[in-house]
Amino acid sequence: MSHIICFAMQKGGVGKTTTTLNVGVELAQQGAKVLLIDIDPQANLTSGLGQDPASLKYSIYEVLLNSSKGVEFATVSTSAGVDLVPSTLALAGAELELAGKIGREFFLREALAAATSYYDYILIDPPPSLGLFTVNALAAATSVIVPLQAQAYALQALPQLEATIGLVKKLNTGLRIGGLVVTMHDKRTALSPAVERQAREQYGELVFNTTIPLTTRLAEAPAAGEPISKYAPDSAGAHAYEALAQEVKKRYA
Ligand SMILES: Nc1ncnc2c1ncn2[C@@H]1O[C@H](COP(=O)(O)OP(=O)(O)OP(=O)(O)O)[C@@H](O)[C@H]1O
Ligand SMILES: [Mg+2]
Repeated sequence: MSHIICFAMQKGGVGKTTTTLNVGVELAQQGAKVLLIDIDPQANLTSGLGQDPASLKYSIYEVLLNSSKGVEFATVSTSAGVDLVPSTLALAGAELELAGKIGREFFLREALAAATSYYDYILIDPPPSLGLFTVNALAAATSVIVPLQAQAYALQALPQLEATIGLVKKLNTGLRIGGLVVTMHDKRTALSPAVERQAREQYGELVFNTTIPLTTRLAEAPAAGEPISKYAPDSAGAHAYEALAQEVKKRYA
């Protein structure tokens, strides 16, 4: 059975997509079978893997609207070694289409049922807003990893996410927080280490030892359509995601 991990935080631009992509690629490089799910109309995960969201035949859109068909028909393999269910800008419209349907929270879970016996990890990248896509992601997941941007007010967004997870537990009783990872850590500032310290005091062992540094290489890689391990293999960002993937593997073993 797969570990189904949703990288969630109800805040934009904290590193959800970057972390889903690079942890996924690293896990695959370390030998795991990995499926990435882009369930965000921004389609950043899709384009970050070098796929053009406008030219793909099928996407998560068709998966959600035909959930009994599974995900295989919409899955593409990528040169980064991970499989991907891509997103498309048209997904934005699907939220309204889905809103009136019975069982609307469970379409992704239903669609993933067969894939869970094949993949070791299924990583889901939701949008920052708490809409039907995020609820589908959380209802399908077995755990949540929270990216915590090492900036002011970072920890203030956490109670909101915890409340959401509490609500989603009514749909998905097994859902748990698998960990917190500090992202965009800038050790030249006083703020980043302070946020990290506070997170460790408050959440202890849940916080991964590895922190992800703030580096221009990580900001540049998506435009090249490449994971950091390919774009800048010897960079601090590449080493950090490699270490984080090792920790994830150990924690979920
Ligand atoms: N460690 C980092 N150092 C520098 N830039 C980063 C880092 N991580 C992510 N970025 C950049 O910051 C921006 C936001 O990151 P990302 O897209 O991963 O966040 P997100 O939480 O998925 O955003 P959204 O909520 O919009 O989906 C992107 O341009 C990304 O390339
Ligand atoms: Mg994103």
